[in-house]
Amino acid sequence: MTEVVEAIFETVAATAPEVRAGLVGRREYQEKENPSGERKLAADIHADQLFEERLLAIEGVASYASEERETVTGDAYGDGYHVAVDPLDGSSNLKSNNAMGTIVGIYEEPLPAAGEHLVASGFVLYGPITNMVTAVEGTVTEYALDDGKRIAVAEDVALPDEPTVYGFGGRVPDWPEDFERFVRGIEQELKLRYGGAMIADVNQVLTYGGIFAYPALESNPDGKLRLQFEGNPIAYVVESAGGGSSDGNQSLLSVEATELHQRVPLHVGNTVLIDRLERALG
Ligand code: AHG
Ligand code: MN
Ligand code: MN
Repeated sequence: MTEVVEAIFETVAATAPEVRAGLVGRREYQEKENPSGERKLAADIHADQLFEERLLAIEGVASYASEERETVTGDAYGDGYHVAVDPLDGSSNLKSNNAMGTIVGIYEEPLPAAGEHLVASGFVLYGPITNMVTAVEGTVTEYALDDGKRIAVAEDVALPDEPTVYGFGGRVPDWPEDFERFVRGIEQELKLRYGGAMIADVNQVLTYGGIFAYPALESNPDGKLRLQFEGNPIAYVVESAGGGSSDGNQSLLSVEATELHQRVPLHVGNTVLIDRLERALG
């Protein structure tokens, strides 16, 4: 079934230029909220419509789920892959003209599914260059997208051994004490890189080594980010690149999936830092 995985990545790559072009003039909020109770941008809706239409048209894709939709579309229990998409990650960065991304997780089980049922995942980063990173069978590849065509620019991507950057979401007063103590150590050693779009921040970690987290909060012990659309796909990429992931005490890929839009505390990066985090929260 790798040709279906390739077809999915090709389709996401081919759609990326339209998503990027479609950002212009779509930064106003719509009245309707998304299933996570967050306000939707016209750009979120536009990207979601493009991906749903294109991905469901692929032979071998059974269903489509997205952060912007209450329920799965297509054949929720059909044969084939079940695709989970965050059409526009970090969309609040549109107004400030900062980087955003698209995340895709390809599951072999109906959704919601645990990350161990991912067969591949990847993301597009709408940065100065539109690039794409994919993880398939333990191998991470980085592509530059030229008019929707993938040009491999780095094969077998692996996190650098030496961590350099960190980025943590949420407000400091809202961090649990044990997490804050962990951060106080990290900030003595690494450089702060936090831009408000997980994909852009995680790509810093993939490039320079380090750790990204959107942790459990006092106000919300499950944190902010969604397991199906953000946590699992990104954990799959980072773990395939030799890094680690954690919800605070186990790999994100082992977290039981009970609801399509469940949130999860998300920590990804160098294994030495993930181990240190789990000891700090233990
Ligand atoms: P999305 O735009 O898909 O809802 O994702 C936004 C997420 C994630 O990209 C980012 O790490 C986080 O929200 C930023 O949250 P804060 O604005 O609270 O920093
Ligand atoms: Mn997101
Ligand atoms: Mn989003």
